Amino acid sequence: MAGTKQGSKTAPTDDTPLGPTGRPYRGFATPPKLDSHGPARIISLCNQKGGVGKTTTTINLAASLASYGRKVLAVDFDPQGALSAGLGIQTHEIPTIYDLLVDSKRDPHEVIVPTRVENLDIIPANIDLSAAEVHLVNEVAREQTLSRALLKITADYDVILIDCQPSLGLLTVNALTASHGVLIPLECEFFALRGVAMLIETIDKVRDRLNPSITLDGVLATMYDARTLHSREVLERVVDAFGDDVLETVIGRTVKFPDASVSGMPITEFAPEHAAAQAYLRLARELVSRGAVA
Ligand SMILES: Nc1ncnc2c1ncn2[C@@H]1O[C@H](COP(=O)(O)OP(=O)(O)OP(=O)(O)O)[C@@H](O)[C@H]1O
Ligand SMILES: [Mg+2]
Repeated sequence: MAGTKQGSKTAPTDDTPLGPTGRPYRGFATPPKLDSHGPARIISLCNQKGGVGKTTTTINLAASLASYGRKVLAVDFDPQGALSAGLGIQTHEIPTIYDLLVDSKRDPHEVIVPTRVENLDIIPANIDLSAAEVHLVNEVAREQTLSRALLKITADYDVILIDCQPSLGLLTVNALTASHGVLIPLECEFFALRGVAMLIETIDKVRDRLNPSITLDGVLATMYDARTLHSREVLERVVDAFGDDVLETVIGRTVKFPDASVSGMPITEFAPEHAAAQAYLRLARELVSRGAVA
């Protein structure tokens, strides 16, 4: 049974069940408690393709890591503000990430809002952020603006997750420049890999010119439907393309996500027993076991 394999790194036997990525299924051990917190590892969730699960993953991975006692900050870096809404934050009349980007003297602590989830804070965003891009174009070291702003708060968190907008513009370059790692969610659908070459090229350029140490922390298959041959074929092609960079955890397709978003809660709070909540908890454990998160 899969359950007996939790955290096991032993070689597979013939009867080891395989996970959807074709590797032996592992449950990953519950992460050990941390005695102290920070400095944070910063991870961007990035894919210029829209609707692939960036925001859903940011919300639910953040909540899952928080449930394991990690101090987590989620940064909404999309003017659509879906991350803020998904965590139940109203963004009119409060300071947002925009204020941090356009005013270097602003204390980031003033812009952080606690969420209803213990150990999880957010820096919200709203449509104002779309004006920040125009503002940044004329700045000196415009690609490092977010990085400078986050520097003042990394000591307070174990992990900072940045939810990028679906574009490879200056905001996303700012996110990648500020990050230690990048997670790429890919929807298990036709054209999943279209545009990914351009995304990898952008990450490579950022590594060459701005942030030499950025790593690919993993490719996450989302909206996977094991019942369809199509989903399975797409996942196979993703594994062919990225090998072990494809995370073993795969997120299934379920209507629970839209439901949870409407409620302004992570699925781990909205329906903790649901397979999708369990999948994000497993993703959190996998990332800790890979060393991507403390
Ligand atoms: N595993 C899933 N199963 C079913 N629906 C999902 C799943 N993950 C996300 N969704 C739904 O798909 C839509 C897009 O997801 P999400 O907003 O997370 O993508 P995104 O990459 O952040 O999009 P954008 O590029 O617009 O920012 C949302 O309505 C969300 O509720
Ligand atoms: Mg989004």
